[in-house]
Amino acid sequence: MTPESSTGSLPRHIAIIMDGNGRWARARLLPRYVGHREGVKSVRRAVEACISRRIEVLTLFAFSSENWRRPSEEVSLILDLFVQTLKKEVASLNRNGVRLRFIGDRSAFSDKLRYLIAEAEQETSGNSRLDLVIAANYGGQWDISQALRKLALQVQNGELSPQDIGPDVIAAEVALAELPPPDLFIRTGGERRISNFLLWQLAYTELYFTEVLWPAFDEKELDSALLWYANRQRRFGRTGEQVEQQKGA
Ligand code: IPE
Ligand code: IPE
Ligand code: MG
Repeated sequence: MTPESSTGSLPRHIAIIMDGNGRWARARLLPRYVGHREGVKSVRRAVEACISRRIEVLTLFAFSSENWRRPSEEVSLILDLFVQTLKKEVASLNRNGVRLRFIGDRSAFSDKLRYLIAEAEQETSGNSRLDLVIAANYGGQWDISQALRKLALQVQNGELSPQDIGPDVIAAEVALAELPPPDLFIRTGGERRISNFLLWQLAYTELYFTEVLWPAFDEKELDSALLWYANRQRRFGRTGEQVEQQKGA
């Protein structure tokens, strides 16, 4: 696997853990659901901002494989919000040249939600301005296991030899394989953890954490993250001197 993606000052791929909806609502004495609803507005803002800044890929963590542990009313409200948002937003995403896709185990979703997801992916498949990836019922450990399961089947069928299994072979089976790896990871809401997001894909991603709660995350906050990113030296195992030399060459 080549961990290198973007060496320029602008990331090609941004991956975000959109955290803090519940706390945003609680601070206003509102039910958590209102925080999730406001969070959808932040998603729209982030998508528009990425388009205007010519970011190629935006991956958003919308629901983790562990979020099923939440109270069932909250889980249903979040899933309803997915349905409503897909119905409402797909046409405009399509008009704006966004290609939408979902990663995660969708078998746990209702027929209706699975249908809307498949329809949205199909409808927007010809677009190329921005790849918008929604991680829903996604877990990094699930992702690596599903990749290994596919490879195990190929070994069982005699199509692959165990000696050939290395980082490149695994990288081709995990989610987002066809896209450049995330250059910039953003987590809002103040926690400094990965929470089982893209474990494999974040190997060389720059990690940015902000206290700002997701519903309050706007263009200005995105630009702060982009500025921070532009000042990182990405070494991919090399020395700083080597990187400087390469730049000059
Ligand atoms: C993130 O916000 C949204 C989802 C996990 C669906 P939270 O709901 O986790 O908000 P906090 O962390 O409780 O504030
Ligand atoms: C991570 O947020 C998942 C999403 C944003 C979808 P959580 O709020 O679920 O993370 P933890 O449980 O605090 O680590
Ligand atoms: Mg949270």
